Amino acid sequence: LPLLGLVALLAYLLGAVPFGVVMARLFGLGDLRRIGSGNIGATNVLRTGNKLAAFLTLILDAGKGGFAVLIAGALVGKDAAQVAGLAAFLGHIYPVYLGFRGGKGVATFLGTLLALDWRVGLAACATWLVTAAALRYSSLSALMAAALSTLWIIVFARGDLFFLIVILTVLIYVRHAANIARLRAGTEPRIGRKKD
Ligand code: G3P
Repeated sequence: LPLLGLVALLAYLLGAVPFGVVMARLFGLGDLRRIGSGNIGATNVLRTGNKLAAFLTLILDAGKGGFAVLIAGALVGKDAAQVAGLAAFLGHIYPVYLGFRGGKGVATFLGTLLALDWRVGLAACATWLVTAAALRYSSLSALMAAALSTLWIIVFARGDLFFLIVILTVLIYVRHAANIARLRAGTEPRIGRKKD
């Protein structure tokens, strides 16, 4: 158990790195928390119009979840891989470096899933992409991908991931409360459109 605690701590500290804020600063786009929705994710970086910065944010925020899972899985074991995924995700949404005011966890969720089971991860990414292509709402695509991830773990017989998936899905819904309200009110901005 102390080992799992160490895994959780390291994965948390990695997950807490807000790559969106870092990229926005590196690309000279300003403080991401003062742009668009104020969120620290790739969707909001895209609102600056800088596609490369948004893409790098997506890859790095997903990558930190995937990396934590793969390293913990290889060095410690299967349970540690799940602990690392959860801890990296919690790091992203409650980052110590930003006073615990973090993101919505979508990219980190997808990266974590890809590393835990690439079939489940790909199915979740496909769910996001299909919803986004059809409706052009990043938040709604994330909510669909999270909700259907439970279906994908059944389809691919990964019942061992059930509790982790349920926790991550609930947290994604909690973090999207403002988006859900805007979707219901018809005021949620569509992908890529500036909102300032
Ligand atoms: O990845 C977060 C996305 O689902 C919503 O982001 O900036 O539109 O609130 P945002």
